[in-house]
Amino acid sequence: MTTIENPQTPQRDVDPDKLMAFVFRAVEEIGAGLNGGLVVLGDRLGYYRALADLGPTTPVELAERTGTDEHYTREWLNCQAAGSYVDYDPATGRYTLPPEQAVAMTDESSPAYLPGLFQIAHGTLRDLPSIIAAARSGDGVGWGDHNGDVHLGCERFFRPAYLNNLVAEWLPALDGVTGALERGVRVADVGCGHGASTILMAEAFPASSFVGFDYHGASIEVAAERAAEAGVSDRVDFATQRADSFPGSDYDLVTMFDCLHDMGDPVGAARRIRETIAEDGTWMIVEPAAGDHVEDNLNPVGRAYYAFSTMLCTPASLAQDVGLALGTQAGPARIRDVAVTAGFTRFRIAAQTPFHNVFEVKP
Ligand SMILES: C[S@@+](CC[C@H](N)C(=O)[O-])C[C@H]1O[C@@H](n2cnc3c(N)ncnc32)[C@H](O)[C@@H]1O
Repeated sequence: MTTIENPQTPQRDVDPDKLMAFVFRAVEEIGAGLNGGLVVLGDRLGYYRALADLGPTTPVELAERTGTDEHYTREWLNCQAAGSYVDYDPATGRYTLPPEQAVAMTDESSPAYLPGLFQIAHGTLRDLPSIIAAARSGDGVGWGDHNGDVHLGCERFFRPAYLNNLVAEWLPALDGVTGALERGVRVADVGCGHGASTILMAEAFPASSFVGFDYHGASIEVAAERAAEAGVSDRVDFATQRADSFPGSDYDLVTMFDCLHDMGDPVGAARRIRETIAEDGTWMIVEPAAGDHVEDNLNPVGRAYYAFSTMLCTPASLAQDVGLALGTQAGPARIRDVAVTAGFTRFRIAAQTPFHNVFEVKP
């Protein structure tokens, strides 16, 4: 044990081995944090796609294929190799994207697809100055106040999870919902963002009709474009509306994907759903995976979600009336409280993945 003396701070007994272990862990985190930017760069410049197509590649070949400068591809590849994103062969000077990393970095249909997660993280950090100011003042930062990497990154992050789970796993886990959607019912998707979930449901259930609501007008415009591209505009509408006052009545299914905790007044939103849902209707709430207690969430997924909560979701809620700020890791008990306070009587966890909890709520 060494006593470190610093005239500025009180004396502390410090274990130098533990101190250096912490310093090296922090260096690893700096590398990982900076690599977050390099993943966005590699995604945007097409480096991962080119590596997946080319196989073992030199920096010059990667630069030629992507129309970029070889000084940048060389340093980028070395950082990717140091972080085990690519393999490096010293004998040939070539770098290879292993098949698993190729799926994770390039296959948008895979649940393991990662660039969207990096893009929303990068967008979130770009807005850190506003978050620092808001943390001082107690104000919020609205969803619409963020840069486009947050909005597009959110869509690219969540869509693969919805694509792989929503129609195949989550909707069938709800009592009688898939059959009703096949016969043809009315669905409201509240807090729909760019409409990924709304459009996936519309593609799977052509006899049903869907309306997506979000208070962020720019997201609603993108959602309408996405619906037209997907060829489902005949059965999907989108409208800029708040969750506590959206129009309509007798919805058979109301869905909320990764947004209840972002709302300023989740109880007000739940009350509006109670008013507009059919008596035998279902409210499906998809929320980030979380347990009820802090200690349940002290793991890598919880860590990432608490970071998003600090910089994205909590400020988004605080920017709105009421500002309940449930947090990204609200957990089932608090979500149940919201539903019960609004007059719903039945609540259960219908499905879970490493990243999501799916709740079934009924009048
Ligand atoms: C994390 S994003 C999720 C978007 C989309 N559901 C998805 O899964 O890709 C949260 C969304 O909630 C929306 N939102 C937040 N508060 C809202 C409110 N009070 N009324 C309607 N939408 C709201 C935001 O505009 C944003 O689109």
